[in-house]
Amino acid sequence: MKEISKELEEKLFSEAEKMMQRSYIPYSGFAVGAALLAKNGTIYTGCNIENAAFTPSNCAERTAFFKAVSEGVKEFDAIAILGGKDRKVSDLCTPCGVCRQVMAEFCKPDDFLILMRDGKGNVQKQLLSELLPSSFGPGNLL
Ligand code: THU
Repeated sequence: MKEISKELEEKLFSEAEKMMQRSYIPYSGFAVGAALLAKNGTIYTGCNIENAAFTPSNCAERTAFFKAVSEGVKEFDAIAILGGKDRKVSDLCTPCGVCRQVMAEFCKPDDFLILMRDGKGNVQKQLLSELLPSSFGPGNLL
């Protein structure tokens, strides 16, 4: 199983938690923060950004990915995700299907770790291959 150090894991969760304060959530009131670890060691953070027209809303995970890719970084090891109402971490926040698909664009399913933690401190770690089995990715178009 792919692993990252406890120290790095803690750093990712702490960055993700900070991002929940930046979430723009006038419609759902549900804040999500993400911290994406690139293979070069850089951490890209993201929050969810909602929109009055609803459809243009962006999840925290995709915000983090798009920030990284727009900076020329496309190789990643892990992402930490936290979420909850009133900007407080509640239940485990698993990534939505659209975000899983974006992850599959840039990450090998067996080499990308998704870290989630609830408000009680329970941590769940899953590979992308577990959260998005039989995925359709760039390899399918070759
Ligand atoms: N959301 C995320 O940012 N990431 C997830 O993994 C799940 C959902 C956001 C979208 C929307 O702004 C709010 O949470 C409620 O769905």
